[in-house]
Amino acid sequence: MIIIDGKKIAQEIRSELKAEIDKIKLSGKDVPGLAAILVGDNPASESYVKGKAKACEEVGMRAVTERHPADMKEGSLLELIESYNQNKKFHGILVQLPLPKHIDEDKVIEAVTPKKDVDGFHPVSVGNLVIGKPAFRSCTPAGIQELLIRYKIETKGKHLVVLGRSNIVGKPIANIMLQKKEFANSIVTVCHSAAPDVSYFTKQADILIAAIGSPKFVKGNMVKEGVVVIDVGINRMEDKSSTKGYYLIGDVDFDEVAKKSSYITPVPGGVGPMTVAMLLKNTYEGYIKYGE
Ligand code: GUN
Repeated sequence: MIIIDGKKIAQEIRSELKAEIDKIKLSGKDVPGLAAILVGDNPASESYVKGKAKACEEVGMRAVTERHPADMKEGSLLELIESYNQNKKFHGILVQLPLPKHIDEDKVIEAVTPKKDVDGFHPVSVGNLVIGKPAFRSCTPAGIQELLIRYKIETKGKHLVVLGRSNIVGKPIANIMLQKKEFANSIVTVCHSAAPDVSYFTKQADILIAAIGSPKFVKGNMVKEGVVVIDVGINRMEDKSSTKGYYLIGDVDFDEVAKKSSYITPVPGGVGPMTVAMLLKNTYEGYIKYGE
């Protein structure tokens, strides 16, 4: 059994990007830039956005974090996004989700120009992904595929079962792995809360991707020997004795499932760090493709 080290791979990607950005700097050109917008004070969102800004600065990108109160008007947010759409110093725009209830998430996602849609949430990006055209890909699914690539895990013709059908992970990873392309070409099943017997599906998986947000949902008796397990769950469990006041648990019962796995991602240190690394990669690629 091999534990997939997402932290290490994410660091590799960041070093590769830093080397590219150092070259850009040496040539005297302007560097790539990412604008992150946070509305409200959701503690998980706050810590994600902080992590993203720090990672940008480490690789030498320009990073701006816009923090706005929870009662920000939808119109003001749309205007702010439009100003970044026009701003040539920024190549990626990220609006941290979830947004406060009075703001229409779909409108906000569609307000970001597809050329700066580094989250890959815009319907144009999603549509291009589905039909196999180049597009920004949502960062967590892109990070999962990158882990499979860098660990040289065969995906062609393998039965890849996805638990969860969210727009951020389940649906895009299914679409990425379904493509008739290198490092994909899998037989994909998407399983969700309406399944009468989830085990029926998980037991067939050569590669199992759990993205449901339910702590330790996948048990040892739900998988076959030799399975590759990718755990996307980041569930915060209250723990007053720890300094943070919580600890993180995945969607997979690691101790049980690891015994039967050929490869497995831990939580934390698996998929999580990859999301930020892919966000930086998307921003860099946006800069290369759509200009300084
Ligand atoms: N909320 C949870 N995951 C994400 C993500 O990948 N991007 C954004 N913008 N918001 C999120």
